[in-house]
Amino acid sequence: MSARKLFLVLVTLFCFVKTNEGAKILGWSAMPAPSHNFLGKAIFRALAEAGHDVTVVTSFHEETPPKNGKWREILLKGFYEKMTKQFATMNFFDDGKKLSFGFMNIYKMVLQLTEDTLSYPEVQNLIKSGEKFDVVIVSQFMNEAHYMLAPHFNAHLIGLSTIGSSNWNNYLVGNPSLPSVDREMMLSHPRRMNFFQRSLNTLVSVINYLARTFYLLPNHAELTKKYISDKIDFEKELYNVSLVLLNSHPSVSDPKPHVPNMVEIGGFHIKEPKPLPEDLKKLLDGAKHGVIYFSMGSNIKSKDLPVEKRNVILKAFGKRKETILWKFEEDSLPGKPKNVIIRKWFPQQDILAHPKVKVFWTHGGLLSTTETVYHGVPILATPILGDQATNAQGAKDEGYGLILPYADIDENSLNGMLDELVSNPKYRKNVKTRSKIMRDRKVHPLDEAVYWVEYVIRHNGAKHLRMWYVEMPWYQYYLLDVIFAVFAVICLALYVIKKMCSLCCRRYKKTTSKKMKKN
Ligand SMILES: *[C@@H]1O[C@H](CO)[C@@H](O)[C@H](O)[C@H]1NC(C)=O
Repeated sequence: MSARKLFLVLVTLFCFVKTNEGAKILGWSAMPAPSHNFLGKAIFRALAEAGHDVTVVTSFHEETPPKNGKWREILLKGFYEKMTKQFATMNFFDDGKKLSFGFMNIYKMVLQLTEDTLSYPEVQNLIKSGEKFDVVIVSQFMNEAHYMLAPHFNAHLIGLSTIGSSNWNNYLVGNPSLPSVDREMMLSHPRRMNFFQRSLNTLVSVINYLARTFYLLPNHAELTKKYISDKIDFEKELYNVSLVLLNSHPSVSDPKPHVPNMVEIGGFHIKEPKPLPEDLKKLLDGAKHGVIYFSMGSNIKSKDLPVEKRNVILKAFGKRKETILWKFEEDSLPGKPKNVIIRKWFPQQDILAHPKVKVFWTHGGLLSTTETVYHGVPILATPILGDQATNAQGAKDEGYGLILPYADIDENSLNGMLDELVSNPKYRKNVKTRSKIMRDRKVHPLDEAVYWVEYVIRHNGAKHLRMWYVEMPWYQYYLLDVIFAVFAVICLALYVIKKMCSLCCRRYKKTTSKKMKKN
């Protein structure tokens, strides 16, 4: 064996051994929302199963921890219950729009949540334990103080975004994002925005920028000092991000530019379909006219629908041939027609995988949209909150879904759209095309996530992938200083020309008037 070959073998062995030794990983998914938990756990579990030592901070107890690797849970007790109580005081169907635009309320809520998690006794014990980690993976939700756990534990920082690239993470890694093309998630603008839409989009992104710079970040810096350590340079560490994992993929999200340390792993949470429970299997197999599945996700409860709306929906459903599965959070639904089956919970992925399912009526949440694309089921979207409107718009633009705004739900509109989705084969064809795109991957996105986390460890933070200009002031990045200088030079030149002209004119007038006098 040549020396070079031997060297290569040793290097490979070294890399192999180093990652297989098992790194110490802190998985931070504090947001007490089932969808966030679902995504975070999928990755943390995969890392444990790859042999790493994983500590998870979560609001949801894991009933079946992974068998391989080490798994330690720090459970934020009562957080989900508290959030549920808070949610119970609002009705998303009435307040959805208001909530989307209630910037300050959302900011206050996330700051409070960040503080509650950091001050939680077991979290404080961990912070003060003197333990070290190799990597800290933080699920992102405007919770920048949590990122500071990475420098505190001497670890590389990895962000996990439950959505795609957005103003929650673009600025951290210098990912290009222009308000002319990058839609703010709560505005339901089409991809190609007109003048007014672009203006509003720009206004919202400026508000977001200002709120982050002058309100959120200073508050997070305070929380860091108070609960983690006063030795951390918040401003510096904020941009010291090794990797951002994005829950997006061109099959369901807009294609976008991504810097090298942003990696799209959308679809990673999708599992191979399991057989349905016997009763459901019978129901679906036996549905002569197919099945329509109706669910508004885990946060929005369809039991909160105003009674009139509910009755309109029931009336519309009663006229349909299909069997309808409705995720409804109470035991009984008065006036329910025979073809409507209610349950408090359905195994959504396994239902969508069933060939009898014709349409999914959804709020357009990203997980639901991703799952429906994966399984090739057209959607009817009634977006209520957050990014749902953008996802719904995407489904419409790509021709695999229709949008039924909440305010427009009545018997005619609902059945009209369902009829169109069921009978026009275009929607199914388009969603199948998208499904093929989602499934056409080099490796499973979950394996890709594990690969990149280990890559960051192997390359000591993977500095070589980072944009050197992350901390560049925005006016330099957007060339505003240069544009200003050019503008100033032009103005100056115009001014000089004007001055010279008027000087010449005056002289000319003088000489001509002198001549005239002489004459
Ligand atoms: C940035 O993070 C790395 C770990 O990824 C750490 O070694 C380094 O000291 C940090 N840099 C600064 C400037 O704090």
